[in-house]
Amino acid sequence: MGVVLLVLLAAALSGQVICFHERELVEKLLQNYHKGLRPIPANSSRAKSPTLVNISIKLVQIFEMDVKKQVLITSVWLKQAWFDPALRWNESNHAGIDEVSLSPLEVWVPDTVLLNNADTSGMGKPVGMNNPLLVTSYGTVRWLAPVILKSSCKLDVRYFPFDEQFCRLKFASWTYGSSTMHLKPEETEILQNYTESGEWNLERVYPLTSLSKSTRIRHTESKFAVTYVIHIRRKVFYYFVYLIAPCILTSFMTLIVFTLPPESGERMVVGVTILLSLIVFFLLASTHIPETSEAVPLIGRYYASTIIEITCALVLTCWVLRFHHYNTSVGKVPTWVRVYILGYVAKVVRYKVPDQNRATAEGIEEGGDGDTAGNDTTESSLARRRLPKEPSGITMMAKRVLRKAEEENTQEEWQLAARVVNRLFLICYLVAVVLSIFGVFLDVPGVLVARPLPPTTGDD
Ligand SMILES: *[C@@H]1O[C@H](CO)[C@@H](O)[C@H](O)[C@H]1NC(C)=O
Ligand SMILES: *[C@@H]1O[C@H](CO)[C@@H](O)[C@H](O)[C@H]1NC(C)=O
Ligand SMILES: *[C@@H]1O[C@H](CO)[C@@H](O)[C@H](O)[C@H]1NC(C)=O
Ligand SMILES: *[C@@H]1O[C@H](CO)[C@@H](O)[C@H](O)[C@H]1NC(C)=O
Repeated sequence: MGVVLLVLLAAALSGQVICFHERELVEKLLQNYHKGLRPIPANSSRAKSPTLVNISIKLVQIFEMDVKKQVLITSVWLKQAWFDPALRWNESNHAGIDEVSLSPLEVWVPDTVLLNNADTSGMGKPVGMNNPLLVTSYGTVRWLAPVILKSSCKLDVRYFPFDEQFCRLKFASWTYGSSTMHLKPEETEILQNYTESGEWNLERVYPLTSLSKSTRIRHTESKFAVTYVIHIRRKVFYYFVYLIAPCILTSFMTLIVFTLPPESGERMVVGVTILLSLIVFFLLASTHIPETSEAVPLIGRYYASTIIEITCALVLTCWVLRFHHYNTSVGKVPTWVRVYILGYVAKVVRYKVPDQNRATAEGIEEGGDGDTAGNDTTESSLARRRLPKEPSGITMMAKRVLRKAEEENTQEEWQLAARVVNRLFLICYLVAVVLSIFGVFLDVPGVLVARPLPPTTGDD
């Protein structure tokens, strides 16, 4: 019992002793410390030796890419390390304490800012100002800060949703120029603690250094900037399921417009409904696209071409319907229709035009007696010639039957032309739809178009 108490007492005392030693050490370190003066190696001239600051990041997560505002939100552990000769001590004089933590408000810290900051609340403030520093007895200061960075990222939307983006995190000191501070990227495992994002494939993250010119009060001075380029590629599956597949299906559904029987009178209704539904999808797609007029995204081009195709299909269907419901009082089928549509076009689209619809019409006229057509023709022409002389009830009826048969004949010819034209338009539409799908998928970077090259300079 007594031994336990003794041990506990000793532990408490030694803890207090350590605590006391640490306080003494911190007080001693900060006694003559001036936090406005940047640390330089001992005995070197202040003007000639820049303070070397190592910077490194660990990318933890890509939270969000705000496409509308073109802002990338990332979670990053930002680490900065430098050497401060004023914060050195002899371990053996201070109970073996080899590390203390200090507040960034008490000692000098680099005023590193994110230059392409898009966070309205933190503009111009050094990042991670609230996290403590770790100082070793040798004078090495390490400052690790978990931060949420909102950085502006100019998106290249030409190939949306098959796009890849290069977003930058550009760090630089706000006040120190290249002669007073040297910011240097440290080689570390950037993606060690990375959590995969559902929307983006992370291809690579790499640092670039650059000297950027900045205007000071008296003269222009260059300063070191470290830019981390985040190369990300959009995961397409979501967009394929929700935006591309519906558009492809809708464009194939428009084939209904050409295959519905014209008598049903539903063609235009179906066509307009399809057009409206596509426009709804188009509006949905536009919420994923930045509002820029610089380039039309791939998906926008595809939707636009599909909408144009469906509109053309509607106009052409209108034409077909006009042919189909041609008013017989207007007259016979003009020769150009007979020559071009029933002749060439029918041959091109392989529509079998009944060989001589004239013969069948006259067959109907005579009560469908096809085999004696030759004799009947002469007899009917004879009858026709005799008609005016004997205007009896029978001839009147015969005349009406004749006229009706002729009208039916004309109507049938118009409808035949309508069917030929319909098939032509159907084929044209199908070709256009397939071509536009191919056009889209051939335009995807990496198929025919080269993928964009990663930037090699830190400047935009
Ligand atoms: C710094 O300079 C002083 C004299 O000016 C000298 O005694 C001392 O050894 C020098 N220290 C170093 C680290 O060079
Ligand atoms: C900074 O990095 C260099 C190597 O890149 C290293 O030699 C130096 O010790 C580092 N400085 C600090 C303070 O960590
Ligand atoms: C630290 O202090 C001990 C004893 O006070 C001394 O022997 C040692 O040389 C000192 N170390 C340094 C690096 O000054
Ligand atoms: C970060 O990754 C390293 C190595 O994979 C692991 O040891 C460490 O625990 C991770 N840290 C966190 C906070 O997840």
